[in-house]
Amino acid sequence: MHCIKRITDDLVWVGANDRRLAMFEGVYSVQDGVSYNSYLLTDEKTVLFDTVDKAVRQRFLENLTEALNGRALDYLIVQHMEPDHSAALIDLIDGYPSMTVVCNAKTLAFIKQFHDADIDSRVKIVKEGDTLNTGKHTLHFVMAPMVHWPEVMVTYDSTDRILFSADAFGSFGALNGAMFADEVDFDKDYMDEARRYYANIVGKYGVQAKALLDKASAFDISMICPLHGFVWREKLQSIISKYLLWSTYLPEENGVMIAYASVYGNTENAAEILACRLRDKGIKTVMFDVSVTAASEIVAAAFKWSHLAFASTTYNAGVFVTMEALINDLTAHNIQNRSVAIIENGSWAATSGGLIRDKLEKCKNITFIGDVFSIKSSVKKAQLSEMESLVDALADSFPTVQVSSEKTMDSVEIDFNSLFKLSYGLFVLSAKEGSKDNGCIINTVMQITEKPLRITIGINKANHTHDMVMNTKEFNISVLTESVPFSVFEHFGFISGRDTDKFAGYDAARTANGIRYLPGHVNAVISAKVIETLDCGTHSLFLADVTQAFTLSGEPSATYQYYFDNIKPKPSLPKAAKRGFVCKICAYVYEGDVLPEDYICPLCKHGAEDFEPLQ
Ligand code: FEO
Repeated sequence: MHCIKRITDDLVWVGANDRRLAMFEGVYSVQDGVSYNSYLLTDEKTVLFDTVDKAVRQRFLENLTEALNGRALDYLIVQHMEPDHSAALIDLIDGYPSMTVVCNAKTLAFIKQFHDADIDSRVKIVKEGDTLNTGKHTLHFVMAPMVHWPEVMVTYDSTDRILFSADAFGSFGALNGAMFADEVDFDKDYMDEARRYYANIVGKYGVQAKALLDKASAFDISMICPLHGFVWREKLQSIISKYLLWSTYLPEENGVMIAYASVYGNTENAAEILACRLRDKGIKTVMFDVSVTAASEIVAAAFKWSHLAFASTTYNAGVFVTMEALINDLTAHNIQNRSVAIIENGSWAATSGGLIRDKLEKCKNITFIGDVFSIKSSVKKAQLSEMESLVDALADSFPTVQVSSEKTMDSVEIDFNSLFKLSYGLFVLSAKEGSKDNGCIINTVMQITEKPLRITIGINKANHTHDMVMNTKEFNISVLTESVPFSVFEHFGFISGRDTDKFAGYDAARTANGIRYLPGHVNAVISAKVIETLDCGTHSLFLADVTQAFTLSGEPSATYQYYFDNIKPKPSLPKAAKRGFVCKICAYVYEGDVLPEDYICPLCKHGAEDFEPLQ
């Protein structure tokens, strides 16, 4: 018997659920099942978006017949040719002789690879930007290669402002009667599975996922229809915000994810001690025994937490087998932007720590905290101070004060919002090491004294320019003006110089110290030589003598506030959110008529006072 769900007046879900599947793609456990979504648009023409997996093919065909209500099927849009969405393709080609398959050229090649079907005469090939008018509706095709296969495309219905997003914005878990994310407590009950789905299925392709988000931001979206999991019709920004973090490999929460592999419990004991001492310092911890918890769960947790600690025994002169699998999985999923601590155990020749480090070193922007903490068989009392040093180093690598607008329960209150009342400028800091030029955006430059003429700069240790200044002790400051375009911030602020020549093709000149500076949208250039450095945890503070300084224009300097008010683009997703409030700090959008007084931004943790109504 059919079981369909109405999405809009013109759109019906004709998919199906599978709760008997043990391992999705043969590797990811799906204890709560999985849904295969297919949508039928009934316009002057009838249009089906993808099919389903073979496990639920029969139910899907019944659903489609019911939803068509005697009409022919005019178009099948194949957005993703992976068999969990295309198992009924041949059924439809045979069963609906007038149906046209709409797909891109890559998809057609995949159809021919998976099936012995001569369907050229039945195919309409589309490419980026093409449209299909079906009567009232106009469908726009947007290529989304590697989210999660190379042929993937998504479709935007500009009439009802619906994004058919293929694998993007999907989730593990069968649909249990509810079709829309707003019908359930998604954050509490489903976000973990959405993260596990993203990290494991799409996680490797963050660049491509971000590219899709950028393209989608041009559309006015009121609903997202993915191929797995819930349809989004409210609070779209909550899942889009998560995708923005995940696709750029930025952590969601400060805290340490501890994963350990232990044969006789002694490595586990070291991990437990680490967790307890971190908690003593108020640092959040989660723990996983990698021999018990599925790697997909731990990969998802690694995408969530800012710090990762790995504790592994040495086994066959290498890393314990389950830990080795986890580390391989993490590197395969392109984990980056994390701080990492390592504990190794070895009764006679410990090697696991160094081997784990060797593998993670190849990932982008991994900061190792402390040396490998090495134990022989078990932790000894004499090593507790060394453990304490590791804990201190981890604690020091967190912001000194956790970002929170909650009042502390102690006698000292810190209203974090007060720190945002400080004013800052915006600068390009540049350095040169050997033949390598590099630069990044900083907001902390201050003149300290006039005689001698000295300045300080503060810079995050994660920046490659930080290391170059630390090594060479010289730098330039280009003072940005109010005319500076956002592209300068994108170029110098969002791209790492570790693997990019940021000055390549850029209009730049050199000062007497040989270091590059920006001549455009800059009103002054200051060269300086470092005389002192101060380790401030996540940042270093450099005190420097000014060695050269000149003015380029009389245009006002850009302040941090000016940047937010006039340069940084306002959030464009979702444009459909006509009523709501936007966070002035991080641009998170809360949808609704009334912002609760005690509302806390889920991204930057600022309170309701930092939100303003959407324009
Ligand atoms: Fe659900 Fe990439 O397929």
